[in-house]
Amino acid sequence: MSATPDDPLSVPAPDLDPDELLASVESLWGLPGDLTPLHGERDSNFRLGSGALRHLLKVHNPADPEEVLDLQCSALHHLRSVAPELPVPAPVPTRDGRQWVRLTGRDGRPSFAWVLTWLEGRHPEGDELDAAHLREWGRTSARLGRALRGFAHPAAARPQTWDIKRLPQLRPWLPAVAADRRAAIEAVLDRFDEHVAPVLPRLRAQVVHNDLAPTNVLLDDRLDLTGITDFGDMTHTALVCDLAVAAADVLSGRDGALELAHEVVAGYHSVTPLEPAELALVPDLMAGRYAAAVLITAWRTREQGWAPAVDVTAQVQLEAMLSAGLDRLSSRFATPAPHGRSTASLATARARAFGGQQLSYESPLHLVSGAGVVLEAADGRTYVDAYNNVPVLGHSHPAVTRAVSAQLATLNTNSRYLQDAPVELAEELLATLPDRFDRVLLVNSGSEANDLAWRIARHATGATGGIATEWAYHGVTEATFAFSPESWRGADPHAHMRLVPPPPADPSAVLDAARSLEASGHGLAAMLVDGVFTSDGVLGPAHGWTRAAADAVHSAGGLYVADEVQAGHGRTGRMWSFVAGDVPADLVTVGKPMGNGYPVAAVIGPAHLVDPFVRDTDYFSTFGGSTAACAAALAVLRTLDEEGLVEGAATVGAHLLDTLGELASGRSELAAVRGWGLALAVDVVDPTTGRPDADRAARIVERMRERGVLVGRTGRDRASLKIRPPLVFTQEHADLLVAALSVSCDELA
Ligand SMILES: Cc1ncc(COP(=O)(O)O)c(C=O)c1O
Repeated sequence: MSATPDDPLSVPAPDLDPDELLASVESLWGLPGDLTPLHGERDSNFRLGSGALRHLLKVHNPADPEEVLDLQCSALHHLRSVAPELPVPAPVPTRDGRQWVRLTGRDGRPSFAWVLTWLEGRHPEGDELDAAHLREWGRTSARLGRALRGFAHPAAARPQTWDIKRLPQLRPWLPAVAADRRAAIEAVLDRFDEHVAPVLPRLRAQVVHNDLAPTNVLLDDRLDLTGITDFGDMTHTALVCDLAVAAADVLSGRDGALELAHEVVAGYHSVTPLEPAELALVPDLMAGRYAAAVLITAWRTREQGWAPAVDVTAQVQLEAMLSAGLDRLSSRFATPAPHGRSTASLATARARAFGGQQLSYESPLHLVSGAGVVLEAADGRTYVDAYNNVPVLGHSHPAVTRAVSAQLATLNTNSRYLQDAPVELAEELLATLPDRFDRVLLVNSGSEANDLAWRIARHATGATGGIATEWAYHGVTEATFAFSPESWRGADPHAHMRLVPPPPADPSAVLDAARSLEASGHGLAAMLVDGVFTSDGVLGPAHGWTRAAADAVHSAGGLYVADEVQAGHGRTGRMWSFVAGDVPADLVTVGKPMGNGYPVAAVIGPAHLVDPFVRDTDYFSTFGGSTAACAAALAVLRTLDEEGLVEGAATVGAHLLDTLGELASGRSELAAVRGWGLALAVDVVDPTTGRPDADRAARIVERMRERGVLVGRTGRDRASLKIRPPLVFTQEHADLLVAALSVSCDELA
């Protein structure tokens, strides 16, 4: 771009006779005093007067048309009325009520001049702004942006060279940049063309200040904000450009700028939440700001002999960003911790608010983002997630994000209105199940689903007794707690419950338990069975056992509830574990992976059991089956199918089972290896006694975390490694896991 004749960048600042200027100011504004010149890139700025009577006199660049004065003046009036807490200067009218006047320079060029109230304070210097101040900097930028949200002015649409959106138009100035610096600038320009320019027009846009640089901000001795000045770069552009300018300029020349940028972004985000697409562009836009600074100074140096010759700090910063990788920075910025506290202060605050509620790992894992099977921690370390079964499609799967966001942006209400999503979900779920299932009740969690299944069973059978396996877990509600001996901590206050040993024990215990319930007068309402026996130690497949258990339950008049909260949605390499085992279940409960992390769960059963219950109990759940939850669940079902993840779980699971088996065969501390699809366990034992070794298992889990792989522990002895990754786990991930396990065992040997 070559600057046009009326571009303020190409037109020298006004040249006024100081005595004449002083005389004009005195007569027009009635303000006595002397004039002290101040910094100004293209205008002539002066401090007028001294002590309490100070003002700012701005004589604009002769290239600035009157509408630019009107833009700035109107914006300041707007800000002072909608956000009086923001310290911006007030325009001071002349004695005859004009907001600005036209003055003539020594060279005969006319310029507009106006006077503003003086703001006290000093500019921030060096590294004196710490993380908390930088967060405040981000908040200030956001507050200014919010206050300008309702402001419009025709001059805000004029081309503004400093608008990052216009960076591609500065490309013709590249030859003005020294040859050894050009490649970096060109790289930023190329990325901008490819990644930024196509996205920017789709983002929120408004009039923004566009220049929250240290030279335009005033602070007091405590570093609290006392003034925001210089509205000369205001323009209508993408809102996020304003943040990028604020972050780039306050961090220019600082060590650790890229880490600190997080603070500015988090501060901004806490006032004005940013959309993912905006967050993802912040690094490119910051790099764009630095590139613009280098290009503009280089061009001015060449054209006008302007100093400094090159904006060195901007160039250094830009090169640091390029070597850190703009893609990497972009994915890091895409998920700022909402409050972004340090790991230590977050842990303290959590303990204060949550008391003794458990955290995984001796040194808690502070996670900030996840994609696929990889989780990223606040310290930048990444982990292969082989523990979390909820995100079956992988963390942050775009199909779910898109479906839920679109639904939230359109309508999110309850299931008592006619809507497509809940009906489609029910139809698509039922299509995956045997024909005898024809009713779906949507709830919010696995616990609720099991609680509801239990109520249906009691309603249908009139009995009050239940059966669970010895170390099962089925939920947090009063009713499901009774089915969750894993949580009982030894106490067994449940007279209506009978526990049976899980497979491979003899399933005849189920019939004995049913008879015992009969004898105690409870009778058998339901047995709940987790198809992969997760809490009992991950024991599936056990088709013979589950079929025999279901038969025993039926012979006692009870219902068999297939709890597919862990085992379902493809975990075993089959969509539903009880279908794989041909188990004659009466009710099915699903949850956890159903929404890939968005809360949604369900009870599925035949009409003859569900309809009477619904009729007699006025069943309804406010959030159960909300439109957004259904959108998430539909996206999960469809993506499982489209990406072939159920079949993948079978193949990768078989590979992992084999390789774990090979490893265990050569190690005395690893005993049995079990697995069904991607639900696997490895028993850890004391090599000398061969007994379950919970302590060693715990240390292996910690070591594997150090090696970047997350697994858990399970089983009555807490001595089995629990491996349940997202179904997008590949053979490469599986090999990484086995290698991490092997090294961890070596280290503990
Ligand atoms: C087998 C089984 N059923 C039910 C639940 C309860 O699900 P939620 O935590 O969603 O209430 C769990 C949770 O771990 C589970 O493992």
